[in-house]
Amino acid sequence: MEIMKVEQRKDAFMPLFLLADPSKDMVGKYLDQGDLFVLYADGVAACVAVVVEYGPDACELKNLATAEPLQRRGYAGQMLQFLFSTYAQRYRTMYVGTSMQMLPYYRRFGFVPSHKVANFFVDFYPEPIYENGIQCVDMEYLKRSL
Ligand SMILES: CC(C)(COP(=O)(O)OP(=O)(O)OC[C@H]1O[C@@H](n2cnc3c(N)ncnc32)[C@H](O)[C@@H]1OP(=O)(O)O)[C@@H](O)C(=O)NCCC(=O)NCCS
Repeated sequence: MEIMKVEQRKDAFMPLFLLADPSKDMVGKYLDQGDLFVLYADGVAACVAVVVEYGPDACELKNLATAEPLQRRGYAGQMLQFLFSTYAQRYRTMYVGTSMQMLPYYRRFGFVPSHKVANFFVDFYPEPIYENGIQCVDMEYLKRSL
């Protein structure tokens, strides 16, 4: 298992980004200015993460996804631990904006609720987004000290 920063041909990982964010346009908006990390397991790209700056003291995790057949093996957890130690050198806080349904996942890694952006998923996406049959409406922001 190794985690590498990828600077070229970031679009090649679009199928993975789309697992976490269904809009190619939205992904395109943060991919260029974001840092992309790819976790390779046995040479296969198993998990991706994109991090952008969020003000002078903070960064934001914009995308975290594990290839479906490789989920529940701890890859996203290992990616998060890697990101915490990497970004602790530059920032004090990491934010993540997500849907209600993902809150329990991030809480496990020490994120706590920060704020919400009302109607984000309705206002900024062309199609309604459903997770397990429930429509995503507000963007829930969580934060974690680094
Ligand atoms: C969320 C995601 C990145 C986790 O990746 P992963 O590599 O499977 O993560 P890990 O193996 O480290 O952790 C898996 C654990 O998280 C749990 N989990 C997954 N989604 C969860 C959720 N919405 N709420 C709570 N727990 C969740 C799994 O049940 C599993 O628990 P277990 O180990 O006790 O069985 C992956 O499910 C994924 O790519 N989902 C689609 C994209 C997405 O929603 N990304 C986040 C958007 S911000």
